[in-house]
Amino acid sequence: MFWGVDNKDFNQWEGTFYDFFFSHFLNYHAFKDERECALYLNQLRPYAKELWQSYQNDINSIFPDYSNTLTQEAYFLRYCPLYSDSLVKILENLNNSMELPITENSNICIISAGPSSELRGILDFSKTIKISSFKNMKFSLVDKMDWKSTRTIIKQALHDYLDEDNVPEIKEVTIDILSDPIIIDTDYDLIFFQNCINEYLSQKQNNEVMNRISKIIEKLTPQGLAIFSERASYKGMNLFFNELSEAENANIIELIKGKIPKYRSIKHIPHILKTEFFKNESGLIASYNNSLEYIVFKKKYNKGFSFIPDKKNFIPEKPEILGKKSFYEGFNLSNLGANKNFGSKLNDGTDDFINGPLSDEWDSADWEDYMSGPDDDFFENND
Ligand SMILES: C[S@@+](CC[C@H](N)C(=O)[O-])C[C@H]1O[C@@H](n2cnc3c(N)ncnc32)[C@H](O)[C@@H]1O
Repeated sequence: MFWGVDNKDFNQWEGTFYDFFFSHFLNYHAFKDERECALYLNQLRPYAKELWQSYQNDINSIFPDYSNTLTQEAYFLRYCPLYSDSLVKILENLNNSMELPITENSNICIISAGPSSELRGILDFSKTIKISSFKNMKFSLVDKMDWKSTRTIIKQALHDYLDEDNVPEIKEVTIDILSDPIIIDTDYDLIFFQNCINEYLSQKQNNEVMNRISKIIEKLTPQGLAIFSERASYKGMNLFFNELSEAENANIIELIKGKIPKYRSIKHIPHILKTEFFKNESGLIASYNNSLEYIVFKKKYNKGFSFIPDKKNFIPEKPEILGKKSFYEGFNLSNLGANKNFGSKLNDGTDDFINGPLSDEWDSADWEDYMSGPDDDFFENND
């Protein structure tokens, strides 16, 4: 079988999406050997290109079809490396100006979660505010598709990297949030919407989307927050958020808007993905950088509650932010399933970013000029 540890650059995956999730992608597929894995990665390429193509359209005409498992896995490999750490950046930023309602008992909902790589950012941030017990945390993953194999991979990764009895409860709800009755629980401390608004605006009129979103925001606890985040530069998004915060019928108030300027999200891409998946062809060029925009809403003040939160004095004490630590630190790495040598040689890995390009063509490319994905592909046209 071909496991993560069999990759010659495995020690460079440390602390990355690939360490955490791609090694489980390999476990899940249990490829006979490297060649079989390479064939499968090549099979995913047209699906990744099709996705890229669908994201090039205007904000109101984005209709990716995620129904095929191959498309879902192409999305997972192409976009989740960037998206799995977005929330840790946003939550760290927000934590400087307000207390976030994240505790060991939080009830968290990820709307349009897709594969749900957001889980990594949320758990990673939770660790920085000293949360180490996750067993009482609850997550609801809501999406109109079931994202079967990629969710299985992500849940398997959580089971491997957290103690078996320390895994949060994960509930999956498959509904179209714009059309179906909203049958999700109430009392969420946090509701996340990441990278999905443009798809909603392609399916329904702005006011219908706003009505639906405000109904979901009603499911927040009094201190709860709804956090919307997108890759920066989607024109039209700000306009929609302004409409949302001003909508008379919306039972919501805007708390804060913010940006995370362009940052290096990915330091190293596994060699096998560079040679068999991202082949530097139109529509399939890896993104190493990301920049984000976010906006936070809460439920409108309700007379039943005892205080009106204020932007500055929202909550006086904020949790201490610890030094940036790896998600894996303090976790039990002994329960590693098939990827049994994980963690054994992770200390002296180098990464492409700090040490400069390696010898092959891919690593010598000027990645600043070769970013791709919804925003930069859209504006810079990588062809
Ligand atoms: C670009 S993906 C984002 C996935 C994930 N949030 C992330 O950042 O990787 C957009 C997601 O929105 C979901 N979606 C689109 N329209 C939806 C709807 N009407 N109801 C529920 N989910 C929807 C899609 O199925 C897809 O999973």
